[in-house]
Amino acid sequence: MDDPTELTTVATLPDDDSYLFTVSGPSGLEEEVILVRTDAGLEGNSTNRATNGGDDTPPVRAWKNFCMHEPDQPFDRGGDVGAAIREGQVICPRHGSLFDLDSGDCDNGPAAGQSMVEVEVTVTDGTVYLTDDNLTFEHEGGLDDDDGMPSSTSHLGL
Ligand code: FES
Repeated sequence: MDDPTELTTVATLPDDDSYLFTVSGPSGLEEEVILVRTDAGLEGNSTNRATNGGDDTPPVRAWKNFCMHEPDQPFDRGGDVGAAIREGQVICPRHGSLFDLDSGDCDNGPAAGQSMVEVEVTVTDGTVYLTDDNLTFEHEGGLDDDDGMPSSTSHLGL
């Protein structure tokens, strides 16, 4: 495995938003990923928890940036807004299904019974690394944020 890629720090992850980045798989297909605090949007979340103090469970998760109901629907559409997050859940902007940021599961709306696709990340001393053996970090932002050049690849991994 290549050396883990440093993504960002837990302390700089927003409390109610996502960090969007792009990865590529073994075939070269690029996909978007959202990195989130699992306590995002919860009242009383704290940076102390986010520094992983004494808790083996990483305080962040990374998920492929598409809804399981309609895989062409991203949670984070890029730009300054990011994904809509409330009370530890990300909200699909098309039909409103809520996905748990910790488990990835959805138990409501059109996507009920489905789960987001996880990307492996690891937190060490407050820094978040991409440690998924099958994925390579390409750049921050979405598919179209690569030096202003639109991507010719789809993010659909079906
Ligand atoms: S596209 Fe996400 S719930 Fe329908």
